[in-house]
Amino acid sequence: MPSLTNKKILLGVTGGIAAYKSAVLLRALQSAGADVRVVMTQAAQAFVTPLTFQALSGHAVYTELLDPTQEAAMDHISLARWADLVLVAPATADFMARAASGHANDLLTTICLATASPIALAPAMNQQMWFNQATQDNLRRLTQRGYYCWGPDEGAQACGETGPGRMIEPEMLLQQVETFFCPGELDGVNILMTAGSTREPIDPVRFVGNRSSGKMGFALAASLHDLGAAVTLISGPVSLSNPIGILCSRVETADEMRSVVLEHVENSDIFIGVAAVADYRPRKYTGEKIKKNNEIQTLELVRNPDILAEVAAREKPPFTVGFAAETEQVEHYAEEKRRIKGLDMIAANQVGMDEGGFESDSNALVLLWQDGREVLPMMTKTQLAQQLAGRIAERYHART
Ligand code: PMT
Repeated sequence: MPSLTNKKILLGVTGGIAAYKSAVLLRALQSAGADVRVVMTQAAQAFVTPLTFQALSGHAVYTELLDPTQEAAMDHISLARWADLVLVAPATADFMARAASGHANDLLTTICLATASPIALAPAMNQQMWFNQATQDNLRRLTQRGYYCWGPDEGAQACGETGPGRMIEPEMLLQQVETFFCPGELDGVNILMTAGSTREPIDPVRFVGNRSSGKMGFALAASLHDLGAAVTLISGPVSLSNPIGILCSRVETADEMRSVVLEHVENSDIFIGVAAVADYRPRKYTGEKIKKNNEIQTLELVRNPDILAEVAAREKPPFTVGFAAETEQVEHYAEEKRRIKGLDMIAANQVGMDEGGFESDSNALVLLWQDGREVLPMMTKTQLAQQLAGRIAERYHART
């Protein structure tokens, strides 16, 4: 049976150039078995005609809030009740602003107010518009109210700029919808994970640290949450905001990270170490700022506890997943870490290159487990996290 059989999806199309991709999305949703109705804003009709969607969907396209003929067929309240999911793709900055302010000044915003069904947005706009604080504030307001946000993607934009703001491709959106309707593969599973770097203080102003931005770990936390898991994320100092729906705890040093991990690990089914935990810390912390002088300074370092190894060595360990950041012989060293630390799985990435690894928005991984291996090629960390979350769920269920 197709994955979206009996699912009723209201596809909202707003006025962005990505509206042409919505026609492909409509076909993909229908091919997966969904019953789709289309609502277009006025601005969307400047990019694609309603006739295109009517011909593809086989149904009249809804465009007006106060059109007696359309209202007679299915009024806005009936449409709002009919949908199992309202998917707005593309969702422009203007639409997000109107929805965030609770406007009901066209059919689509009115449906969004009137529906009790989930609403998902696939944002599409110029990258500066996406970064604009107003858009980010609107996004936060919407996601806090329970809206889902799928994307945007990064890359070359129709306006000639490069950056985040592209609508994610129809096939990825289809996957999101399928995942959304699937009973969560990780429903009822407790996941504890670490992300970001740790900072090991030298004096009140200096520390030993590394380049981890937390992007990989935060994206993975969000994807595991999307699969239904209850995720607790222990993060070092990063500039990312807490992912919605995830219990977050911020720490600074490896010792603090270890303490919080040990507080939570007892109730965890899965532990994932994405954090780049500093392997060493200064032997001595100097309470006052160390003054510079002309002498050579030597910093004496001592080993930090290995949090991942300690979790894996417990009498009844959770399903334990490590990461390995290597600059050479990536698979060889990762496999060695997996074996020595007794991990169920390890995700190895090459670091120190222009693309992938630390700080970058994209990454590639080689996954290794007892009797298997899989390569996840270079893609955005958001996409990679979705794939990795699926593989972790598979391996976890295979073990249990
Ligand atoms: O945060 P980003 O900028 O997005 O970058 C992502 C990343 C490159 C940091 C991430 O993909 C990654 O590779 N994380 C692990 C980094 C690391 O410290 O690797 P490692 O090979 O040194 O450590 C191996 C494993 O042991 C890791 O799971 C680590 O969390 C764990 N570890 C290491 C040392 C220690 N004292 N305690 C630990 O738990």
